[in-house]
Amino acid sequence: YSTRPGLNQAGQGAPHLTEVPETTHYVVADAAGNVVSNTYTLNGAYGSCIVVPGTGMLLNNEMDDFAVKPGTANLYGLVQGERNAIAPKKRMLSSMSPTIVLDSQGRFSMAVGSPGGSTIPTTTLQVITNVIDYGMNARQAIEAPRFHHQGLPQTIDVEAHGFAPETLKALQAKGHPIHVRASLGDAQLILRRPDGTLEGWADPRKGGLAVGY
Ligand code: DON
Repeated sequence: YSTRPGLNQAGQGAPHLTEVPETTHYVVADAAGNVVSNTYTLNGAYGSCIVVPGTGMLLNNEMDDFAVKPGTANLYGLVQGERNAIAPKKRMLSSMSPTIVLDSQGRFSMAVGSPGGSTIPTTTLQVITNVIDYGMNARQAIEAPRFHHQGLPQTIDVEAHGFAPETLKALQAKGHPIHVRASLGDAQLILRRPDGTLEGWADPRKGGLAVGY
């Protein structure tokens, strides 16, 4: 099945929306129990905007995921210290959180993840808690409104739609500045239902697509 009306198999055609220019997440599961949860990134839009001649491959600008200048925010507002400073043979810190959740018997339960820089862990966690703690199905868990806090700045980011104005006012009254954003993340999710069948949903925020065979 497909979440896009009229499209029942993956194939060539005009893309629904142009592909996002930096980070992508996808999840795949098959009947044999194989599961993939993969996030890959160029970091900023089109990475360093340099294409390797003859390959069509864009080079990333992942150096921004180091604390280029400790104490100063990077592209995603993350302020970090000396431990993430640039040094030979070091690998930069990443927010990417491709996740596979197992149940108490070690069986596949969920595959999920998202792009979104510093908002990746909060988006991914909210999808997981939507399923486990709030009993949502895949579509509900993906489409539920999201919020985000990353310590610095001392602000709660909320999606523009879905939060009750009185809730936001109550938070402001407690001293939490609210920052409204058009959307947070672009999560993809496959979960295993209690009867063993698989259920997937793609985030409509960025035009994703769930396909089943
Ligand atoms: O690895 C990281 O945390 C960043 N390079 C991710 C950047 C990203 O998700 C941009 N996305 N929209």
